[in-house]
Amino acid sequence: MLTVTNLSIRTKQTKETLVRSVSFSVKSGEVLGLIGESGSGKSMTSKCIMRLLNPRLFDLHGSVQWNGKEMLAVKLNELDGYRGKQISMIPQNPMTAFAPMLKLGKQMELGFSLKGCRERTQFRGQLAAALADVNLPDAEKIINSYPHELSGGTLQRVMIALTILQRPELIIADEITTAVDAASEYLILNELEKLRRAGVSMIVVTHDFGVAARLCDRVAVMKDGEIIEEGKTREVFSAPQHEYTRQLVQASVLFQEELC
Ligand SMILES: Nc1ncnc2c1ncn2[C@@H]1O[C@H](COP(=O)(O)OP(=O)(O)OP(=O)(O)O)[C@@H](O)[C@H]1O
Ligand SMILES: [Mg+2]
Repeated sequence: MLTVTNLSIRTKQTKETLVRSVSFSVKSGEVLGLIGESGSGKSMTSKCIMRLLNPRLFDLHGSVQWNGKEMLAVKLNELDGYRGKQISMIPQNPMTAFAPMLKLGKQMELGFSLKGCRERTQFRGQLAAALADVNLPDAEKIINSYPHELSGGTLQRVMIALTILQRPELIIADEITTAVDAASEYLILNELEKLRRAGVSMIVVTHDFGVAARLCDRVAVMKDGEIIEEGKTREVFSAPQHEYTRQLVQASVLFQEELC
């Protein structure tokens, strides 16, 4: 479904390589975890798949094939046919994902190209149900708020509800449980599990090994812009091959033990 081959990302100004020869694939219905330390290139890789990197700032090499189509060659005016509809990304920073000067209801109507009262009423009903699923029962309040009036965790959940409403074939979820409380994390993971059972493919970017173990069929470990290890989640976590993965797994186990 998605095949990334030898993807490299370099800054045009400083010629710094941020992502180096990254290759992985996601099959239909599969959940791939992208894990690794801060700054290792997880978000850059995700943004590149969505074609969210400004070509004036970054040089891209390699290939991102989506159902046989080369995403890196898709023209800008054709991207709307893919983004959101086929591949959707829930970004790491929800604060910058919404237009600051428009109430959320208004920007959702624009985003979903809603026309007329009937479409709007129907959409609001679906939205209310999707928001309730991620622990946001007061849809009216959300619709009538500006982004700065809501917390990062709430915006994150609004983003998740919108993504679910779009029914994409692949969801890239970038650290979506980091900014929320434990009850919301539980609900969000349940929603992602429902999507997984419904056959939606996902790339789950996370620092949290518990999240990866629960959701991901396979994991790829990134370090300094490269994938250093990849395999079935259980195998990578129980018998890591790379020293760095071993350290990560050990640190995670020690952390869990201390919590207990
Ligand atoms: N707009 C940018 N311009 C130049 N360098 C950038 C830009 N955005 C990110 N970087 C650099 O690219 C590298 C990879 O960043 P990226 O955001 O992909 O890391 P990450 O793995 O997602 O980290 P985190 O877990 O903290 O989210 C880092 O060295 C970062 O400083
Ligand atoms: Mg990131």
